[in-house]
Amino acid sequence: QTTLRGAADALNKDIGVAVNYNLLQSSAQYRELVATEFNSLTAENAMKWDATEPSDGNYTFTQADAIVDFAEDNGQTVHGHTFVWHQQTPSWVQNLSASALQTAMVDHINTLANRYEGRVDSWDVVNEVVSDSNGAMRDSFWLQKLGEGYITTAFQTARAADPNADLYINDYSIEGQNAKSNKIYSIAQGLVNQGLLDGVGFQSHLILGQVPSDMEANLQRFVNLGLKVRITELDIRLQTPADANELAQQASDYARVANICKNLADCSGITVWGVRDGDSWVPGVFPGYGAPLLFNDDYSKKPAYTSVLNAWGGT
Ligand code: G3I
Repeated sequence: QTTLRGAADALNKDIGVAVNYNLLQSSAQYRELVATEFNSLTAENAMKWDATEPSDGNYTFTQADAIVDFAEDNGQTVHGHTFVWHQQTPSWVQNLSASALQTAMVDHINTLANRYEGRVDSWDVVNEVVSDSNGAMRDSFWLQKLGEGYITTAFQTARAADPNADLYINDYSIEGQNAKSNKIYSIAQGLVNQGLLDGVGFQSHLILGQVPSDMEANLQRFVNLGLKVRITELDIRLQTPADANELAQQASDYARVANICKNLADCSGITVWGVRDGDSWVPGVFPGYGAPLLFNDDYSKKPAYTSVLNAWGGT
């Protein structure tokens, strides 16, 4: 019997998981599963701004370090998440003047990228910078204070701080071709022309039965720009409780995503956004929905686990 990790290693792709610091600390069973089934880790929250710089210049790396150490101990790569986002960014940052905000952003990126140089393989440099409607830029405090140029500045800073890390732009609802993914495409083109971008992260917080029919074609157009693509936060939610039919549909949806990544040599991998269904962010944000991951709360494998394993050549 192969593991997800074994199958992914054979394909030379990442199978990643978003790791929760508290569970990593408290549960040996969680640690064992994360080490066995995955070859790549993303900190679910521990590398975000509120966790790493809660007040100006006061950096706190206990949680992030623990996750990077765990990855190193277990021969896993780390996908860093994230430098610049409009959420989980402390109010002290949001209240800065434009010039102070720019300084704080550059300092924050330099500090994290330098600290983890050689240990974090890739970074979500900016997260969710495009709005959900009509492909406009997201009207965040970043845009309001700094204008669109903050994106280029963030990538230039990250590139200079760790020239060997792969730099990603990351967003949700861009799995199919639509106004939002078109906007990401044009931003990506601009960054590629400046040599600042290595990949696009497709979060892929999907709904049961709704893997976009044009997902592979959409990812392919980014590959055609010379970029890597990556499924960075995969989960497939359904209305709970799940019945057997829904779990089978979910397994087939997961297999479709796994096949899309397998078919694209430049898909660097898939990260699932949590281990067990009960660990997921989904029910807290979408009441009545949940059960979006690969493992049950007792760590047993769901049908979706087996379908991903099989799609990637494991048995
Ligand atoms: O740390 C505090 C704790 O001190 C406090 O007592 C507790 C009470 O609510 O909250 C804790 O913070 C929570 C944090 O997770 C850490 O557990 C926040 O409330 C909670 O909102 C936060 O949720 C995270 C969410 O991002 C925030 O937007 C989820 O765990 C995380 O899975 C989710 O991940 C995002 C990606 O980063 C970006 N893409 C979307 C994805 C899903 O929303």
